[in-house]
Amino acid sequence: MIKKIEITASFSVFPSVDDLPNDVQELMKQAVEVRKNAYAPYSNFKVGCAILLDNDKIVVGSNQENAAYPSGLCAERVAIFQSGVVYPEAKILKMAITAASENTQVNQPIPPCGACRQSISEYEVKQETPIEIYFMGETGEIYKSDSLKNLLPLMFDKKALG
Ligand code: THU
Repeated sequence: MIKKIEITASFSVFPSVDDLPNDVQELMKQAVEVRKNAYAPYSNFKVGCAILLDNDKIVVGSNQENAAYPSGLCAERVAIFQSGVVYPEAKILKMAITAASENTQVNQPIPPCGACRQSISEYEVKQETPIEIYFMGETGEIYKSDSLKNLLPLMFDKKALG
């Protein structure tokens, strides 16, 4: 007998940064600031990420490219690895992500790539509490995912390793 499994994803949509809760507005502001420090001479696509921890610290990251393209790293992983280095015991509460391009106006929300979702999932599984993820372009709506799990159905995690 063949059965079907259905997994749904849902997002809250905020019309603009002004509509976000105050702490997330501040987080997004920092993501926008750090986005300007992205090193993206190859794609001209700049991403900023700010992470709020349960110790009230904010850790930021921007994408860092490389002439050997795959050696570069996305903003989200720069930020989340940095939080693991500096505050290994802290829980991650919220992530704010923003992307802008020098080639075109990015006015739709830009979600974290698949590899970043996998990296973020490691920390959500480890801390056993959900990470809120807010993402936007340079302008326009902001999408909120209540957890990483919502962005990565059937995720591979340490449970598979036994
Ligand atoms: N990028 C990120 O920083 N985060 C993502 O989730 C998607 C892509 C970066 C990688 C590369 O430097 C540039 O955007 C274009 O792919």
